[in-house]
Amino acid sequence: MSQTMSQTPAVLFVCLGNICRSPLAEAAFRAAAERAQMTVEVDSAGLGRWHLGYPPDPRAQAVARRNGIDISERRARQIREEDFHRFDYVIGLDSENLAGLRRLCPANARASVSLLLDHVQGRAGQSVTDPYYEDDAAFDDAWRDACEGAEGLIAKLKKDMK
Ligand code: 4NP
Repeated sequence: MSQTMSQTPAVLFVCLGNICRSPLAEAAFRAAAERAQMTVEVDSAGLGRWHLGYPPDPRAQAVARRNGIDISERRARQIREEDFHRFDYVIGLDSENLAGLRRLCPANARASVSLLLDHVQGRAGQSVTDPYYEDDAAFDDAWRDACEGAEGLIAKLKKDMK
């Protein structure tokens, strides 16, 4: 365990709008933590402010529902500086998100900033493709990537906590 990490890991997933990919990553990670019987703090946020206060995109809600999870109550919010002090991990969904997070991250941050698929063996550096202008299949792909990332992250946290 790193020196600053608390017993309850706090993880923030971040995409552009906080209406498609990061709410899916949040839901997938919460479910993976539950399966692993791990207590975690988890949230998601967007770099942009276009969708503040909005529920997830109906296509994101639908793919979560197809996988047994209701995300309809979530509301989009924008990342703020205090998030880098509150969360142990701030995780971007794509490489542009990661670049934006690195620009915003204060020097004395608590958070370690990374890319979701960096936590999946053989997928380091890969982005979760933005499905916003795509079809339902793209949302299925985003869900699958979110689940792979969530499982990889749980495995890493378990190892770190030993
Ligand atoms: P997200 O998807 O970043 O996965 O929430 C997007 C949502 C909205 C826009 C782009 C991506 N947009 O351009 O409004």
